[in-house]
Amino acid sequence: MSNSKVVADGPLAAAVSQRLSGVELLDWSLTEAGTHPEVAALYTYGHPRVDGQILDRFPALQVISNYGVGVDHIDVAAAVQRGIVVGNTPGILNGATADMAFTLLMATGRRLVEGDRYARSPEFTVYDPGYMLGREIYGQTLGILGMGRIGEQIARRAAGFDMPIVYHNRTRNEEAEQRTGARYVDFEQLLGTADYVVVATPLTPQTTGLIGPRALGLMKSTACLINIARGAVVDTEALTEALASGAIYAAGLDVTDPEPLPRNHPLLQLPNVTIAPHLGSATEQTREAMAAMSVENLLRGLRSEPLLHTVG
Ligand code: DGY
Repeated sequence: MSNSKVVADGPLAAAVSQRLSGVELLDWSLTEAGTHPEVAALYTYGHPRVDGQILDRFPALQVISNYGVGVDHIDVAAAVQRGIVVGNTPGILNGATADMAFTLLMATGRRLVEGDRYARSPEFTVYDPGYMLGREIYGQTLGILGMGRIGEQIARRAAGFDMPIVYHNRTRNEEAEQRTGARYVDFEQLLGTADYVVVATPLTPQTTGLIGPRALGLMKSTACLINIARGAVVDTEALTEALASGAIYAAGLDVTDPEPLPRNHPLLQLPNVTIAPHLGSATEQTREAMAAMSVENLLRGLRSEPLLHTVG
């Protein structure tokens, strides 16, 4: 590795730092001004925007290694155009992220967070069989938007709950259908049929705002929306309105747009939304695997070797 100068965003987790001996880490503020021919790599730990303008500050850049699978914050085409390889960490986080989809689905349908708050509060003095009735989970129809690697893992989990599965995808995934019994339907049909709509699509120009006023209007008033993809796939203001008016029953969100939401955003006041701070892949085991894979991609890029996983 002739040049091991790497610009990384933010403080890195211990599992990443420990693997980076021999690499000189420089501050992300270098992306804001000047030209830095001494830098060979960018390591994106969070979701900082990386566009062509930033890349032009680093004329000797060989690799961008992303800690995570989603690369919607990186202009991959601009990188490829400049001969820079972009690595990410697919595969290893499918199980944890699908688990989070199911965690949110169950917490939302069964009002778990609301129940937890009540059970701790002074108001809980007597058990009442009439309070806090939720929605059934087993036997209900699951609608998966985006039948990729994570979508398929979500479908596998639904089998244990006897849930009929419908899905919609850019292209039909017949192999996943055979493995999971999921049925391909069009977008509108999915929204009108599913009791739980789970968003598992990547964020692209085509999926930005996909769940807006029209889509929310097509959902059943008893249905829950779960988003474990990217916040911007859902129109936040339209969702707030749909939840407040009862147009849909509830939402479970691992991601929001913006992320985080302004602390005074009306969505945060609603009782029928459960929000996690982007924890989809946040297990000790998965984050360890992501650290290993993203650092390996980085080191391979610095040595001009093929990465474990490349996008673009
Ligand atoms: C991913 O891997 O894309 C997660 O959302 C964390 O960035």
